[in-house]
Amino acid sequence: MVRHALAGTVGTGWGGPKAGHPARAWFLFGVAVVVGSVLVAPYVLLDVESSRLEVTSELHYALLAAHIFTAMIALVLGPLQFVPALRARRYLHRRLGRCYLFLGVVPSGLVGVPVALLSGRPVTQIGLVIPSVGWLVTAWLAVRAIRRRDVEAHRSWMTRNYALTFLAVTSRILVPLMLLAQIPFAGASTLAASVPSFIPIGQVLGWVVNLVVAEVFIRRRRARSASADVR
Ligand code: HEM
Repeated sequence: MVRHALAGTVGTGWGGPKAGHPARAWFLFGVAVVVGSVLVAPYVLLDVESSRLEVTSELHYALLAAHIFTAMIALVLGPLQFVPALRARRYLHRRLGRCYLFLGVVPSGLVGVPVALLSGRPVTQIGLVIPSVGWLVTAWLAVRAIRRRDVEAHRSWMTRNYALTFLAVTSRILVPLMLLAQIPFAGASTLAASVPSFIPIGQVLGWVVNLVVAEVFIRRRRARSASADVR
């Protein structure tokens, strides 16, 4: 059904090979590969002893590993969908889009809910169940938009969806930044003690900041295409 819907968008203003920012998309891709590899590395051997996160059971570890491997697929494939030249190859765009959603976002988002709940930390539980569900909802809205051949809405929902995917990167940048900001006010031992409390805050700020940035990009793009239509 998705295939049928995506196939029906020929000539409906899909953006064309020149629409978008290839350098920005390739930059995101590079960051996704590098940061994603660092994040995934401790889990590749499926050795529970190497887990960066404390897990409460084998099931917890299995769910976490499933979340991480599928999330990595989404993190890396996502930026390719914003590269104008690749998007212009419609068959490739459709294939990558299906892999992004059905091997990445959907399984990772579904598993993300129990993983968040198993953390036992209320801020993580609430702060990461919301983007897990948001991941699934924005994916569904993006697919629904393209089924209706509304390319602009599809692109906007996919931008929001990838903003949620990218929380994995932003949250890991924000935590060290928050620690750096504390340096003038706290000693080394206080800093070390505050790391565990900063992690859940970074997890929440990560997706909030990304969604705000995504919204700015979406509005700018809409304003540009509206002024191009007037001319
Ligand atoms: C909407 C997007 C995402 C959500 C909602 C989400 C959710 C979660 C949750 C709930 C945890 C457990 C956190 C804890 O118990 O403190 C977690 C851990 C983790 N996630 Fe995600 N995640 C997302 C995207 C990603 C992506 C794109 C990656 C990239 C590979 C990723 C990699 C990891 C890793 C490696 C961990 C284990 C913690 C660590 O080793 O640092 N996540 N995630």
